[in-house]
Amino acid sequence: MREGLIVALDTDDIEYIDWLSGTLVDIVPWIKIGFQAFSTLETEAFPWFRERGHKIFIDLKFHDIPNTVARDVGTMTKNGVHMINMHAAGGLEMMQAARESAEKVAAEKDVPMPILLGVTVLTSIDENSFQQDFGSERQLTKQVVYLAQLAQEAGLGGVVASPLEIEAVRKACGDDFVIVTPGIRPTWASRGDQRRITTPAEAIRRGTDYIVVGRPIIEAGNPLAAAEMILEEMRGA
Ligand code: C5P
Repeated sequence: MREGLIVALDTDDIEYIDWLSGTLVDIVPWIKIGFQAFSTLETEAFPWFRERGHKIFIDLKFHDIPNTVARDVGTMTKNGVHMINMHAAGGLEMMQAARESAEKVAAEKDVPMPILLGVTVLTSIDENSFQQDFGSERQLTKQVVYLAQLAQEAGLGGVVASPLEIEAVRKACGDDFVIVTPGIRPTWASRGDQRRITTPAEAIRRGTDYIVVGRPIIEAGNPLAAAEMILEEMRGA
């Protein structure tokens, strides 16, 4: 269960990142680096976090033509990150190119093959905005499953989805397909812009592999205590 929590270091404040990761590393090995932390730390972030004992999920949500994303993913693989994501909406060819690039670089540089994830539908989007903004005739959960199957066909290791779609993705893609779920809100935390949410316990009961938590931990008065409460809730589920 210790493996199942990923903390999103959504800040560009290097001193806070330093303090937060150093404080959390013994109880939460996984950290997620988004654009804010990456803009501050650049690729120095990777050896820096690894030496501390962190596992790194680089969340830059690549979405571009196949050649560009293949190179982006190759660069991240070379740097020894453990998890990389891209928008599944970039298409089958883009995801296949990304996977082939990661495999090639991992073999050539003798670094581990990262877990490659396709982002399905952002957890801040609800059924209404999905229909309106995308003019989609497909129901949101069906779109998530559709993109998850596309990611699996491309040879990716898993997807990012909301905890509300875990069962549907499991049914379609099987037990070995990794499901990472943001959209996690303990009952004591405010929802913010997230829409398709559950508590940590509910996500575990539904069968998530990893939950991603940002603001409920990084904006807490006591981030260590907040992370411990979430881990406790996960263990009790
Ligand atoms: O602060 P909060 O717990 O909402 O943070 C969730 C994190 O997960 C953010 O870093 C956000 O960018 C990321 N994320 C997400 N929904 C996705 C993919 C990533 O919320 N579909």
